[in-house]
Amino acid sequence: MRYTIASIIASAILTISASAACTPSSVDTAGLQKLITDGGAGYTLQLCASQVYELSEQLNYTAANQEISTEGYPTDDTRATLKMVGFNKTTSVMAQDTGLNGAKLKNIQINGNRLDNEDIYTAGGGNIEFGGQNQNQVIEYVKSYDPRGWSCLHLAEGTFNCLNITVQNNDIGPCGRDYFQNWADGISLSCADSLVQNNNIVDATDGGIVVFGAPSSVIRNNTINVKTRTMLGGINMVDVLPWLPEGNFSNTLVESNNIYGGFATQLGNDTFGSNNASAIIKIGIAVGPNVWFSDGRYGTNKSTGAIIKDNLFSGAFAFGMGISSADNFTISNNSFVGNTSFIGTYGPNCTTEAKTPHQPVPLLLEPDSVQDLNLTLPPDSEFQFVNGTALGLTCFMPPTSGDFWPYGEGFNSVPSPTDPESTSPTSGGGAGNGASSSPATTSSPSSGATSPISSSQGWILGSVLGLLSGTLILL
Ligand SMILES: *[C@@H]1O[C@H](CO)[C@@H](O)[C@H](O)[C@H]1NC(C)=O
Ligand SMILES: *[C@@H]1O[C@H](CO)[C@@H](O)[C@H](O)[C@H]1NC(C)=O
Ligand SMILES: *[C@@H]1O[C@H](CO)[C@@H](O)[C@H](O)[C@H]1NC(C)=O
Ligand SMILES: *[C@@H]1O[C@H](CO)[C@@H](O)[C@H](O)[C@H]1NC(C)=O
Ligand SMILES: *[C@@H]1O[C@H](CO)[C@@H](O)[C@H](O)[C@H]1NC(C)=O
Ligand SMILES: *[C@@H]1O[C@H](CO)[C@@H](O)[C@H](O)[C@H]1NC(C)=O
Ligand SMILES: *[C@@H]1O[C@H](CO)[C@@H](O)[C@H](O)[C@H]1NC(C)=O
Ligand SMILES: *[C@@H]1O[C@H](CO)[C@@H](O)[C@H](O)[C@H]1NC(C)=O
Ligand SMILES: *[C@@H]1O[C@H](CO)[C@@H](O)[C@H](O)[C@H]1NC(C)=O
Ligand SMILES: *[C@@H]1O[C@H](CO)[C@@H](O)[C@H](O)[C@H]1NC(C)=O
Ligand SMILES: *[C@@H]1O[C@H](CO)[C@@H](O)[C@H](O)[C@H]1NC(C)=O
Ligand SMILES: *[C@@H]1O[C@H](CO)[C@@H](O)[C@H](O)[C@H]1NC(C)=O
Repeated sequence: MRYTIASIIASAILTISASAACTPSSVDTAGLQKLITDGGAGYTLQLCASQVYELSEQLNYTAANQEISTEGYPTDDTRATLKMVGFNKTTSVMAQDTGLNGAKLKNIQINGNRLDNEDIYTAGGGNIEFGGQNQNQVIEYVKSYDPRGWSCLHLAEGTFNCLNITVQNNDIGPCGRDYFQNWADGISLSCADSLVQNNNIVDATDGGIVVFGAPSSVIRNNTINVKTRTMLGGINMVDVLPWLPEGNFSNTLVESNNIYGGFATQLGNDTFGSNNASAIIKIGIAVGPNVWFSDGRYGTNKSTGAIIKDNLFSGAFAFGMGISSADNFTISNNSFVGNTSFIGTYGPNCTTEAKTPHQPVPLLLEPDSVQDLNLTLPPDSEFQFVNGTALGLTCFMPPTSGDFWPYGEGFNSVPSPTDPESTSPTSGGGAGNGASSSPATTSSPSSGATSPISSSQGWILGSVLGLLSGTLILL
């Protein structure tokens, strides 16, 4: 074949402009997949800003160093959206096959499309599935929300050779619903040597960040908060599997994270208002399997070897930190800022055989179940650890109405008597905030049936404002 110079230039220009242009949403899922597959190693699937791509099934990374991103790398709502519409599909992007080192997901939105009132899909994976037998993958500036399955973002361990995933600057949530076993995690980290930083996680309903051991990982400067849904745990270090030996959190560092339980959304009295969603974080940071699982499924295994320091808590919790069945943890300089309250009543699943957990307090430790803890608080800490049973702490139920939530920044903490809101009846609301003593935070969704033993109790409010010392009021 012969080419004229003009046709070579013309085809070069066409090639350049074709590779520079974003791929429009008129390309269907099979077409997007073909671009990735044919593109091979190092290919970037560049999506168009502000477009919505309906997926009939998950997109698969197929070679090393591939990237899916939005043209121009926006960080706002103009990021392209992948929206899962396929029947019974839970995962939108998958990068766990072998040979996918350096896979990147950047500056896009992933809408899992779990509809209102639609129950969780108990089979299948997270909205985003990365990790596996791979290294050096990156997920940044991604918004992941409304997963149909158990997690907004799962970084899997592979055959324990997943290393060095970077997960940063992402907007995560909402994830899951806050009724029984319809929960979903924000970030589920099971890849070792990874970095999870600067993420903003709102309204995840299981764990905000669940650390599955993930030895030598760093989880820092993440902001975790609740707005409209109760979260079981802000940061969980309770899953002793899959990393071996059981409970291997060696050198995992959880530092400088900001964990915000619910704040008042309506004015109440001088110090507390109501929250129109009854949203709290049940346990700000949960350490050790027994804090979560009351059914003894992990025997005497303990979470071991991590460092938890310089984290901040504010807002409404049942517990700021709960620690039991932990070994060789350094837990230092974690503090409470602004206004806080520690609230919740015993739910129907709180009593396991003869054991009932301690009522809500800022810091709960079960001394008989721990060893080699280096546990220190800031010298001026307004709270101290309380000794007590720390078993199955997710069983507590937030109040369904009433002035129990502290005022947060930017919310008028001095209600005026003439303010109509301060005299209007507080709304009940809240989607039956279910909790069980065995919720599904493990990578295989648990069935978690426990015998519902009714132990109806009065409201318990351990509430504290600012620098005032803790009070415990039984109503
Ligand atoms: C991605 O891989 C899965 C599992 O192999 C497959 O079922 C699915 O069809 C693939 N996705 C596409 C768009 O081909
Ligand atoms: C949905 O997919 C799961 C596997 O992911 C399968 O077990 C289940 O049978 C499917 N349900 C329907 C209704 O097809
Ligand atoms: C970890 O992954 C990041 C992102 O791919 C890379 O820049 C960095 O060099 C990797 N670190 C190591 C130790 O390989
Ligand atoms: C912490 O994360 C926020 C984003 O949530 C970022 O703006 C800030 O720069 C980060 N701080 C540090 C010290 O990295
Ligand atoms: C924890 O897992 C890491 C990574 O597999 C391994 O290097 C380390 O030896 C394990 N820790 C213990 C205490 O076995
Ligand atoms: C709940 O309160 C928040 C904050 O005041 C407000 O933005 C939201 O609209 C309220 N929601 C309902 C359902 O009243
Ligand atoms: C630790 O947990 C594993 C996995 O659940 C279990 O098989 C083992 O019996 C437990 N070990 C002890 C000492 O409780
Ligand atoms: C305690 O954990 C640290 C990592 O945080 C590890 O370096 C050390 O070897 C562990 N000590 C024991 C006695 O296992
Ligand atoms: C306990 O932790 C603190 C703060 O990290 C540290 O300064 C101290 O040396 C540790 N003590 C022991 C006995 O390891
Ligand atoms: C908690 O128990 C430990 C160990 O039994 C004990 O040393 C400590 O003084 C107790 N703390 C409080 C506040 O009672
Ligand atoms: C505000 O209301 C809460 C809950 O009803 C109550 O416990 C608290 O004492 C009240 N505070 C003031 C200052 O009235
Ligand atoms: C208690 O556990 C049972 C399952 O054993 C569950 O059906 C029920 O919804 C749970 N209740 C709450 C409030 O979590």
